[in-house]
Amino acid sequence: MLIRRPPDILPGEITPEGVHRRRRAILKALALGPLALAGCGRGAESQAVPADGGGALEIAKRGANVVGEPMTDMDAATRYNNYYEFGTAKDDPAKNSGRFRPEPWSVEIAGEAEITGRFALEDLLKPHPLEERVYRMRCVEAWSMVIPWVGFPLGDLLKRFRPTSKAKYVAFTTVNRPGEMPGLAYPVLDWPYTEGLRIDEAMHPLAILAVGLYGRTLPNQNGAPLRLVLPWKYGFKGIKSIVRIAFTERQPATAWNRAAPDEYGFYANVNPAVDHPRWSQATERRITGTGFGLFGNRIATRPFNGYAEQVASLYAGMDLRRDF
Ligand code: MTE
Repeated sequence: MLIRRPPDILPGEITPEGVHRRRRAILKALALGPLALAGCGRGAESQAVPADGGGALEIAKRGANVVGEPMTDMDAATRYNNYYEFGTAKDDPAKNSGRFRPEPWSVEIAGEAEITGRFALEDLLKPHPLEERVYRMRCVEAWSMVIPWVGFPLGDLLKRFRPTSKAKYVAFTTVNRPGEMPGLAYPVLDWPYTEGLRIDEAMHPLAILAVGLYGRTLPNQNGAPLRLVLPWKYGFKGIKSIVRIAFTERQPATAWNRAAPDEYGFYANVNPAVDHPRWSQATERRITGTGFGLFGNRIATRPFNGYAEQVASLYAGMDLRRDF
């Protein structure tokens, strides 16, 4: 399919055709040398970079750790993962994603927008200065981490395609590459993995597209080269390795909601008052590192994962027991 160029990019900024080596390109377009690592927070410098982890990123804005809680070690964040396309065990994604090639990469923008087409990742990223944001991530399985993500607001990208008034939702799709993703051989979910947001959720400034963590490009197991991070929602909303973003008029189907609608809702806001049918959501195990850190402390889960002040108004008037 034709690779288009997004709006707001001057001709001189466009990467020459054929130059699509993602890491090299991202590093060139956005990053510097090893200095970029300095100051990226507790745990980052002391941890070994996993073999398939990327290079250091240039971060324009380093957010303070407003969460105020100790960060999870990079080791745990990159070895204890959910990425079922590489297997369902927590260590499968790190073990089985070595063959995955996140470059070259392009994303199709489709649906209810004035500008649609397929765009090279470098061109999508170029206008967006990268920020580091330390966010709590709460998995529906009642464990959580605190991770310094590197990315930029999802809404900033979406606006460039000028969604029409019919764009009520945004649907996301993960890449589907059976040759590189051994988990796709098993019908655990109806592949490819899909997710969705209401457009106002997608435009909320807390919602980011991440290209890195701990100051480096995303390792494959964390969703290279581009993934969603939505800190007030359960982790499964954070779809990895995105290849398609579509503006839709109707609420899109999502992989987990289709697989088990009684267990995984479309909204999936972190909510200690609504239990998963098979376990409580009132508390969570905070993972701090590998080894004993994996057992973590048990702490109370907060509504909207502690981000209620920023996002609760999005859901005013909704019954979140029904619209879970
Ligand atoms: N995206 C895809 N494509 N496939 C998956 O299996 N798992 C989700 C989410 N995104 C998943 C996915 C779940 S359940 C969680 S908790 C987070 O990714 C985990 O992200 P992390 O491994 O970077 O911590």
